[in-house]
Amino acid sequence: MQKPMPQLVEKSGRIPSDMPSRFLPLIDGRAFQDGTNPHSQHATLYQPDANLRPEEFFLHHLLDTRQCSKGAIRRFNPVGVRRYLEEKFIEDRWVSEGNNKLSQMLEGYIGTNLERFKSLPEIRLLDFGPSGGAITTLFAIRALERFGLLDRARIHLLDVVPDVVNMTISGDFEFPGEMVREYGLDFAAADGSLYKQIISQAVPIISDFHDFDPQDKFHIILNAYTIHHLNIFDKADCAAFMEGIVEPGGAIAIVDFFVKSFAEYRRWLLAHLESNPESPAPVESPYFSREQMMSLSGASVRLISSDDTLEKSWAMLMEKS
Ligand SMILES: C[S@@+](CC[C@H](N)C(=O)[O-])C[C@H]1O[C@@H](n2cnc3c(N)ncnc32)[C@H](O)[C@@H]1O
Repeated sequence: MQKPMPQLVEKSGRIPSDMPSRFLPLIDGRAFQDGTNPHSQHATLYQPDANLRPEEFFLHHLLDTRQCSKGAIRRFNPVGVRRYLEEKFIEDRWVSEGNNKLSQMLEGYIGTNLERFKSLPEIRLLDFGPSGGAITTLFAIRALERFGLLDRARIHLLDVVPDVVNMTISGDFEFPGEMVREYGLDFAAADGSLYKQIISQAVPIISDFHDFDPQDKFHIILNAYTIHHLNIFDKADCAAFMEGIVEPGGAIAIVDFFVKSFAEYRRWLLAHLESNPESPAPVESPYFSREQMMSLSGASVRLISSDDTLEKSWAMLMEKS
């Protein structure tokens, strides 16, 4: 009789009963009863490839945090960082669309709270997981610019990958000029030079988010297409982290990649690797809906707006009470 394929569809922090034993050393200690992984001494570097199997895809949900971070460092290498805006404007346009939607949601929120935003001497904005060129900041500051608030923005870039932060601040990234026309980003200048000037003033924070403890809270936190790089425990930590560092009356704006099945993910992965043959296969866990993310949020934030109609994505904006 043929051995059944592991399904591993459990979405909580529990280890599914069909988890292949060879994966146990790679699993986050928090999945085990006393919070430590008894198999960790046998852990090796996990590195997926184009032949990703379903059981590996579902393993990402529980994969040890350090393995996830190493995956991010491999994926967001200088070549990937430099080309990121192009990649997300040309091959993965849905990422530009998701960031555009997030900016529109933010614009609605700022418009409703305009007097409060106008009274702030500085608007502290955190882009959590910017990748090269900080596409999420690029779109979000369009909302500030439309209300004449751009010169008050104090942008912070938080990323676990040093090249992401350093190359973005030094302007070492390609800027697709057509993006300006397509999305009304005129403040950036057709060649991106004005945007590069703005982003050169950003505050660099090279850190895993768990280790970042800011002195001042933020008025706007942006988190776009970053949550799917985190395992389930870190997704929960990330929700608590953002809630803890946002000002009362401030906004947390999230958009993320969502797939309903392994087959759907594999279609995207193969297309991505074909367009970017130099790119390593990413470590990602996008089998997670907006409702599930929302369920990780605490009582001090409330949902202001959401979108479930985006391609491969969901988006939501929350306000801290
Ligand atoms: C797919 S990119 C998102 C880029 C951009 N925000 C967008 O909308 O396309 C994810 C980013 O999250 C960063 N990241 C992943 N895990 C992180 C962690 N634990 N702490 C901080 N940054 C992290 C990655 O290095 C990468 O720059």
